[in-house]
Amino acid sequence: MHTKLICSQTGEEYAIDRLQNLSSAGKPLLARYDLPALKSRFTPGSVRKRPLRSMWRFWDVMPVDAPSEAVTLGEGQTPLLPCERRGPFAAFERLLIKDESFNPTGSFKARGMSAAVTRAVALGAKAVALPSAGNAAGAATYYAAKAGIECFLFMPEDTPPANIIESVVGGAHVFLVNGLISDCGKIVRHGCERFGWFDLSTLKEPFRVEGKKTMGYELAFDLADLAGESELRLPDVIFYPTGGGTGLIGMWKAFDEMERLGWIDSRRPRMVAVQAEGCAPVVKAFHEGADHAEMFPNARTVASGLRVPAAVGDFLMLRALRESKGTAISVTDEELMEGVGELSRFQGVYACPEGGAVWKAAEKLLAAGWLKPEEQIVLFNTGTGLKYNHLSRIGDLPQVDHTDAGCLDRVAELID
Ligand SMILES: Cc1ncc(COP(=O)(O)O)c(C=O)c1O
Repeated sequence: MHTKLICSQTGEEYAIDRLQNLSSAGKPLLARYDLPALKSRFTPGSVRKRPLRSMWRFWDVMPVDAPSEAVTLGEGQTPLLPCERRGPFAAFERLLIKDESFNPTGSFKARGMSAAVTRAVALGAKAVALPSAGNAAGAATYYAAKAGIECFLFMPEDTPPANIIESVVGGAHVFLVNGLISDCGKIVRHGCERFGWFDLSTLKEPFRVEGKKTMGYELAFDLADLAGESELRLPDVIFYPTGGGTGLIGMWKAFDEMERLGWIDSRRPRMVAVQAEGCAPVVKAFHEGADHAEMFPNARTVASGLRVPAAVGDFLMLRALRESKGTAISVTDEELMEGVGELSRFQGVYACPEGGAVWKAAEKLLAAGWLKPEEQIVLFNTGTGLKYNHLSRIGDLPQVDHTDAGCLDRVAELID
């Protein structure tokens, strides 16, 4: 493995051959690869020839010596769907959805957990623990099950029922906490000290971000395929629903690596972080020109993945947004649920609320003139709407009596 670990703030180097969490400065560790050494064998052409149907086709820049070492359930290689120019989507000429709901356990969290569990197990971890707003819990459960290790989860008590149920069914030790994800994080920290679990919290170990960065690599291949060209390319703008920010930070890292590998030039998409109005620490910090985000008070939103009042990688997200000439924007819970309905009805994508949020943010930024209709824009739908069924009110449905010969007359009345 051509990797070393570097503190994202001080640049100090850390050993790669031992389980690591934050640096001594309390900041995330990031993996650095010897990209010049990889350049001759790791090329877009070599990747395209690989038969692997998962994100592990990028294994050269991931924490393994061979793809066979991966703890995998087939994550990644999700579709990039061109949007139909219908209803409120008609104004966009080149809008695309990267639909991460196709991942194992129904969300992009699978990518990060596949990479993190792979490395944790390789370094001898027998039990992992994490705080989760929902989807990370499900993903950690199933990768731990695949690896044959224990998983301890601490979730806010109002986490969506689907996430709790899938975790229990998958054999995780689940604890519900009367607080926010940050309160759960404190319990995990102390539990790791006391019981020797390995802490898999967002950005508190180095490899979830390595899994998430594959979204950036994949996008470059997807867009080349869409254009029918072999040259890799990136879109003009990327919209990402931001909680802990691993995906945003990961994709930004992927673009940097791809440039160093000689795969792309120095042009970058404008990155847009989307949060919920009831929990928007990154949006606030971005518009105040701050380098770090303050803890967001009374964090509330139905988009549980966005309910992260404080993130350890805040400075990395803010740096990526500014370097990319992007922005940060929030939407209300009402708007993001309206977005879920519109993605469902007009695009055939049953999105999670976080996916609904990015769509509404794009609509707002087009109306504000920040986006141009002809720009190529990628929205990340980070998970399936099926896990959030409890948020939708469908009302009473008409009943049809199959023994009534006139039942279709009643249907005719109703559809008239
Ligand atoms: C569906 C969904 N979208 C977005 C997020 C936020 O992801 P990140 O922590 O990478 O910012 C989460 C996190 O829980 C999530 O579950």
